[in-house]
Amino acid sequence: MSEPSSGSSESSSATSQATDGAADRRPPAPTGLPILGNAVRFARDPFGFTVDAVAEVGDAFRIDLPVGDRYVLAHPDHAERVLVTERDAFEKTEDFPLAFGDSVIAVGGGDWREQRDFLDPFFFASRIESYLPTVREQIVRRVDAWVDGEEVPILSAMQGLTFDILATTLLGIDAGSDRDDLRAAADDLNAYFEPATWMLPDWLPTPSRRRFDAAKATLRTEIRSLLADADSEGEDAADAERPPGVGLVETLAAGLGGDAADRADYPRDRDAAVDQLIGLVFAGHETTALALTFALYCLAEHPETARRVEAELDDVVGPEPIGWEHLDDLPTLDRVVDESLRLYPPVHALPRETTRPVTFGDDVVPGGAEVLVSVFAMHRDERFWEQPSTFDPTRWRDRDRTADAYLPFGAGPRRCLGATFARVEARVALAELLRRFRFERVEDGALSLSPQMTTQPAGEVPMVVRRR
Ligand code: HEM
Repeated sequence: MSEPSSGSSESSSATSQATDGAADRRPPAPTGLPILGNAVRFARDPFGFTVDAVAEVGDAFRIDLPVGDRYVLAHPDHAERVLVTERDAFEKTEDFPLAFGDSVIAVGGGDWREQRDFLDPFFFASRIESYLPTVREQIVRRVDAWVDGEEVPILSAMQGLTFDILATTLLGIDAGSDRDDLRAAADDLNAYFEPATWMLPDWLPTPSRRRFDAAKATLRTEIRSLLADADSEGEDAADAERPPGVGLVETLAAGLGGDAADRADYPRDRDAAVDQLIGLVFAGHETTALALTFALYCLAEHPETARRVEAELDDVVGPEPIGWEHLDDLPTLDRVVDESLRLYPPVHALPRETTRPVTFGDDVVPGGAEVLVSVFAMHRDERFWEQPSTFDPTRWRDRDRTADAYLPFGAGPRRCLGATFARVEARVALAELLRRFRFERVEDGALSLSPQMTTQPAGEVPMVVRRR
């Protein structure tokens, strides 16, 4: 970990405090074993460890790991400082560019602004509305193949579904093309962030990191060929007017123009375009697949809520395909999405690195430290939620989605670019699934979770589907 760097007046006072006894002033760590620190408890159950640690030592604490300290922040005021008011002191960690290169999810400063401006129009409400028939088509195509009483591996089914949706809408990849290799590689990207690897130095080539590197190499090859195809199709139609709503792959290919040399505008070269697409494939399909899986799990565990959603769908949508105009009239479904994102936030923590020492109460987090804003801990904290472990969508009747302690999509300028896209996709998918099928769990007991970069169920989530 690097030494504190200089910064603003606030930071220089914090710097002197930090160097006058930084070791004593660091946030406290929960009790752990000598040498291994908190590693054993953390590795066994990272989510339970984090929630317990907030109760034991407070909402700014240190995890004592063999690779060095990590700092966890689990209060909405801390989150506000990290993500909004003092965000210049908290950069994205180096893991992001390592994993995703030159993509909006990874870069900072002027590059980030330029990429976000380039991408924003793809996420305007009018654009998302125009995607809706394709979203529906992808869902119907997939579930029409399900047989009454069949056992479906829900997590993989949802990963397949959200990948197909992303590919055929935002990216604009032809619905009929073979995307299997691309998808398999995209699913493997999560491996980089397996919790076991959090204990190990970055240079150690663990099996999951090797899987990640292999997945990225496959993705690069696949995406390069998608760009090349889009480019040649674009040249064939050089004189034709480009239709509105053209996909991202084609837009990036057109932006590169023929043989890409370094350019002044974004994307500056082919590698940049490839990186962007890899980042979006990762950010845009795994997260929504998890949101859908967790929502279906919650509904299977709470059939009375599932029946209310069915009744609402019958009443508001009837036999018609769900359309944009229905989305505002489905409050029960909406609250199911909100509540399952609270209990099972697909992104459980927001990692950052401090650019200077920062004080939290009497404690100082040194500069160059890895900080995690724990979305999961805040979502399960009884100071902010009544009976936090209970799935209760009705709590959202009198609670605002923008309320404190609710950050499934992050906050501030780096808030999720795809939040609206994801919420529309989740509601349309759930509506089309729930009007056709009821979902029954095959396994008993609560779902076990495992944190990779995203919140993963520990293993597949099989469910029996019964036609309504
Ligand atoms: C339920 C589904 C989703 C969840 C829970 C989710 C969650 C998040 C969170 C928490 C962040 C902020 C990360 C941070 O601050 O460190 C984020 C960023 C991002 N998300 Fe999502 N996301 C979802 C769906 C999507 C979709 C569908 C897309 C694109 C199609 C997408 C694209 C992005 C991008 C590009 C960023 C980086 C934004 C930036 O740094 O400016 N996400 N997401």
